[in-house]
Amino acid sequence: MDYKDHIFVGDALSVLKSLPSDLVNVGVTSPPYNKGENKKGWLVKNVKYKDSSDKLPEEKYQENQVEVLDELFRVTKPGGSFFYNHKLRWERGYMLHPMDWVRKTRWTIRQEIVWDRQIAANIRGWRFWQVEERIYWLYKPIEKHYIGQEILSKHAKLSSIWRFPPERKNLHPAPFPIELPTRAIFSVMDDIKGLVIDPYSGSGTTLVAAKLLGHAYLGIEISKEYAESSEIRVMNCENERSGVLLETGKHTVSQTFSERKANGAWAGKFRPDYDANKQQIPLKLLEPKTRYIEKAVKKASPKKKTAPASDQKSKRSRKNLGGL
Ligand SMILES: C[S@@+](CC[C@H](N)C(=O)[O-])C[C@H]1O[C@@H](n2cnc3c(N)ncnc32)[C@H](O)[C@@H]1O
Repeated sequence: MDYKDHIFVGDALSVLKSLPSDLVNVGVTSPPYNKGENKKGWLVKNVKYKDSSDKLPEEKYQENQVEVLDELFRVTKPGGSFFYNHKLRWERGYMLHPMDWVRKTRWTIRQEIVWDRQIAANIRGWRFWQVEERIYWLYKPIEKHYIGQEILSKHAKLSSIWRFPPERKNLHPAPFPIELPTRAIFSVMDDIKGLVIDPYSGSGTTLVAAKLLGHAYLGIEISKEYAESSEIRVMNCENERSGVLLETGKHTVSQTFSERKANGAWAGKFRPDYDANKQQIPLKLLEPKTRYIEKAVKKASPKKKTAPASDQKSKRSRKNLGGL
């Protein structure tokens, strides 16, 4: 069977089990986060997928993710990489960290990358506003060579903090922006061409990036509707070339590390190209300000005689507004 340029409709684990070993060069994914449909945030709607629930007992969820990641390890060629996007969550005050289960897999963890989304989905004060997600760069060693090859300076200089906002123009409930899979794939494949996998391909962002970078793709998606619309998106991928070029255009360096060293030029500590102060983009809220002000004012406006408990609640709402 030819596995190139195909989107399988089905459960990630079952489809992965049917694939041969050492098939793909690289993968990128963002799985469902098991956030649960009953935990509605104050500002944003819950993510709800068409044909799957995002609510499993946490233990079962983590076991499934370990199995999926281990199957991905098997189907990846030695020397291949997988980029796994996830985030820190809290369950009744207890922090659930992706490292809790990523460490249980067969992969070598090559790096933890922080994705600075520059935006917070929840602006209550229980914690500092969570603006980041994580991306785990996982590596399948060639025999016992655990470190792997160096990537070129033009990729490495982009640093372990990836700064771009989430995707807004996509109808899928939780897409990632095209920059994310483009940066991941381009950095490890550069001028080599191969097969790219995304086991939770959703609206097909990874598949579009793969195709525009000249690779073949293999997607897995449980929702037939998402799979079909992503097929159309991939067919029309030329419309998205500018986004990919914008990202690959950031992968430049005037002189490599060894060239600088050979020329006696500065080869010391990393200094970002940008002025860190200028990069401080003010946080944006997900809904127009007027909308949540209206909501909060409605909540805060006292009904004739306010019971003490709700009075306290409305005071809290006003306090929150003060912080904006
Ligand atoms: C976070 S989204 C991925 C979005 C994707 N990165 C994009 O840019 O569009 C997770 C996707 O996994 C799919 N999904 C949920 N459970 C699945 C399963 N067991 N097997 C395969 N896909 C699944 C959902 O339908 C959803 O589209």
